[in-house]
Amino acid sequence: MVTFFRILQRHYPQFMETLKFQIASRAEFERLAACNVDTLTDLERAARFLYLQRLAFGGKVAGRNFGVSVGASRFDVTRLGPLLEAIHERIAGVVIECLPWTEFIARYDGPETLFYLDPPYWGSETDYGACAFKPGDFTRIATALADIRGCFILSVNDVRETRAAFGRFPIEPVSTRYTIAGGQWAEAKEIIVTGPRIDSVTPPRDQCGRARSCSPRTAPAAARPPHGSRSQRRAARREWPRPAWRAAPGGAPRV
Ligand SMILES: C[S@@+](CC[C@H](N)C(=O)[O-])C[C@H]1O[C@@H](n2cnc3c(N)ncnc32)[C@H](O)[C@@H]1O
Repeated sequence: MVTFFRILQRHYPQFMETLKFQIASRAEFERLAACNVDTLTDLERAARFLYLQRLAFGGKVAGRNFGVSVGASRFDVTRLGPLLEAIHERIAGVVIECLPWTEFIARYDGPETLFYLDPPYWGSETDYGACAFKPGDFTRIATALADIRGCFILSVNDVRETRAAFGRFPIEPVSTRYTIAGGQWAEAKEIIVTGPRIDSVTPPRDQCGRARSCSPRTAPAAARPPHGSRSQRRAARREWPRPAWRAAPGGAPRV
């Protein structure tokens, strides 16, 4: 993602030119997914990245499959400019980190930090690389979270093993739906784990005293920005149903 935005910053017209006349198709998706990236220029790699991420099922970065959905394609070259602007606007002011979770928690923990953790599902630990995440990490995360000075919200699939790993914290079971092949839905059960003192935390405030990063659907009316550009409103909608706020106040970076 960082490399992608560097390309946009330095070679935006050339990047757009690379994608001119690009259509969304399974054949093109499979051709690009299979191609050897070492043979591509940086511009072509960035274009491939965007194309595959828009069209892959679940936005997966490894083992990508062509995502089938009824309706307009998620890759529409005529809407690329506004889409990239909206993404960039959404992440302006956000720090993009890249650290193992152990280091991340240690560096960003503080009395006013709220962590949202979205680890791989139990049973899918290798989805993000062979060694990135191990089954034992669920218990290690629970141990680390028990000692933080801030608070956390963690979501993961609802199976015996995850309930056992996080059993020391309050656990709320929730049902959600995933799209699967052919545009079908599947019911899925997740748990939301919170702690250690989540109820005592107040949402972060901006310089005007308004609650920051609130979803418009969950924020109290007084905390909602009354106006905003179309892309800001679109970006806010995209946050739903993620946690309504998830950052430390006082100028600490949003990660
Ligand atoms: C279920 S995904 C969460 C994706 C993201 N929250 C979203 O909604 O698109 C799990 C994430 O954990 C990251 N991850 C896997 N192993 C990790 C590790 N050891 N330390 C930090 N992050 C890790 C993966 O790269 C992946 O982005």
